[in-house]
Amino acid sequence: MALKSDDTRWGALARTFHWLMAVLIIVLGLVGLWMTGLSNSPQKIKIYAIHKSVGLTVLALVLLRLSWRLFDRRPRDVPMPLWQTWAAHLTHWLLYALMLALPLSGWLYNSASGYPLQWFWAFNLPSLSGGADPALKSFAHFVHEWGFWLLVALLAAHVGGALKHHLIDRDETLVRMLPLLRRRQAAPIPAPAGTAVAEAAPAAVTAPTSDKGES
Ligand code: HEM
Ligand code: HEM
Repeated sequence: MALKSDDTRWGALARTFHWLMAVLIIVLGLVGLWMTGLSNSPQKIKIYAIHKSVGLTVLALVLLRLSWRLFDRRPRDVPMPLWQTWAAHLTHWLLYALMLALPLSGWLYNSASGYPLQWFWAFNLPSLSGGADPALKSFAHFVHEWGFWLLVALLAAHVGGALKHHLIDRDETLVRMLPLLRRRQAAPIPAPAGTAVAEAAPAAVTAPTSDKGES
């Protein structure tokens, strides 16, 4: 499996980033919603600390992912109406923006609350606010909480779009991002009738993904 993406398929690294981060972000959101309702205890402090450390890991991962994205290419868009292509690209870039804004606002909220910040009990991170700041704290909390609900709305469109491509349009959009599934069986490349190539063409030769539907 190639590390880099090509014209028709996401590379191994892009797919690893996508699914690793998708799982981490969904778990962080669920744990975030649950932990705020816990009553004060050493266990709650521990869960908050883990939430913050995993959130900071997501921040590091998205910076690595965006750097790789500058270097890597992305597969050609599957044929679809132009407005859908634009809507999908806009959603992707908003998701990247939120993958930055959520951990940064969490870090800012922690700093403006006057708390120290550690990554998995390994090392300390600097304060983003230079001490407690109630106005900044409530701004950061607003961004963290409402940014998350915006993420949920975008993910509904993102996942819904992926499922629509898979189940209704029956194209490669989802399959080329999945780590394990095989490609859909594409139509054989039509060769001119009566040519030697047409007679000898093996059944397994398939049309390039993104040409599907253009015929
Ligand atoms: C992608 C990363 C993250 C996601 C998806 C996420 C998600 C959430 C969610 C959904 C909540 C509950 C919001 C509420 O109802 O108040 C929450 C709370 C919280 N998050 Fe995050 N978070 C992330 C990263 C971080 C980071 C990096 C930090 C700190 C360094 C952090 C610190 C906090 C804190 C302190 C709270 C509790 C707020 C309160 O007590 O009201 N989060 N997070
Ligand atoms: C079950 C959940 C998910 C499914 C089924 C899914 C599916 C997909 C698919 C099929 C693509 C490729 C689209 C294309 O080839 O044009 C994609 C790209 C993308 N996904 Fe997801 N995704 C999921 C969760 C997430 C989550 C949680 C995030 C982040 C919060 C996310 C962020 C992205 C981004 C940013 C891209 C664009 C990649 C790029 O262009 O660099 N996805 N997703």
